[in-house]
Amino acid sequence: MATAFVTGALGGIGSSICRTLSRDGLTVVGLDLEAASRGVYDVHHLDVGGADAGERFADMLERREDAAVLVNCAALYRPSDVLGLDAVSFDRTFAVNVRGPFLLSQAFARCLRRRSRPGVVINVGSLAGRNGSVNVDYGASKGAVDALTKSLAKALAGQGIRVNAVAPGLIDTPMALLTPEESRRATDASPAGRRGTPDEVAEVVAFLASGRSGYVNGQSLAVCGGIA
Ligand SMILES: NC(=O)c1ccc[n+]([C@@H]2O[C@H](COP(=O)([O-])OP(=O)(O)OC[C@H]3O[C@@H](n4cnc5c(N)ncnc54)[C@H](O)[C@@H]3O)[C@@H](O)[C@H]2O)c1
Repeated sequence: MATAFVTGALGGIGSSICRTLSRDGLTVVGLDLEAASRGVYDVHHLDVGGADAGERFADMLERREDAAVLVNCAALYRPSDVLGLDAVSFDRTFAVNVRGPFLLSQAFARCLRRRSRPGVVINVGSLAGRNGSVNVDYGASKGAVDALTKSLAKALAGQGIRVNAVAPGLIDTPMALLTPEESRRATDASPAGRRGTPDEVAEVVAFLASGRSGYVNGQSLAVCGGIA
């Protein structure tokens, strides 16, 4: 048995990733801002935006000898006005969306190196990281997630850890409902003519978590119905 840690586990896409990885035979440990029980997996409290997120995650890893997969799915998305966005809000978005995935990936890599075991990291980015967003903190942070993915892939390949990302387009979750006008425009612009479902993202994450993608490394796969 192998254990997968999934941040943002109570969200629309994160909960679907947890169910899909459980279905595929992994033991799933969810992480989010609240603890919860979901039957086949539990969700534990971890604020990935905290400066101590790496240490706290390292403690959790110690209790899971078979840790093999990390999915960084948690993110902060708030509609923001570029002229009014302040430094504190900008930094918080980067702390959750970029520094958190880095600190957790670092703790994961340190632990697996000590154990001489391979592993997989999957970051959930966004098409906004490629195309930009009027919510500039979010768009910039997701661009950084793509660069973080490529950089970690290069830095960790030597110790047998693959690092990839998925870049969802518009997916039907509470996050997507935050900006109805943007959401409607994006739906209209999609060649698929609809939003994606969380399960359609989760299946790509499951592929990247599996040995079926063993030679895929440092990539960001768009799950966007053809918008990209
Ligand atoms: N929904 C979309 O259209 C869409 C599009 C592109 C990318 N994404 C990405 O997909 C991922 C999941 O988004 P979603 O649509 O499921 O959103 P969601 O709001 O349903 O879920 C996000 C989850 O992250 C958790 N979270 C937020 N801050 C956290 C923190 N500091 N520590 C731990 N957990 C925290 C929230 O509690 C929530 O459960 C995000 O990375 C998001 O950027 C979503």
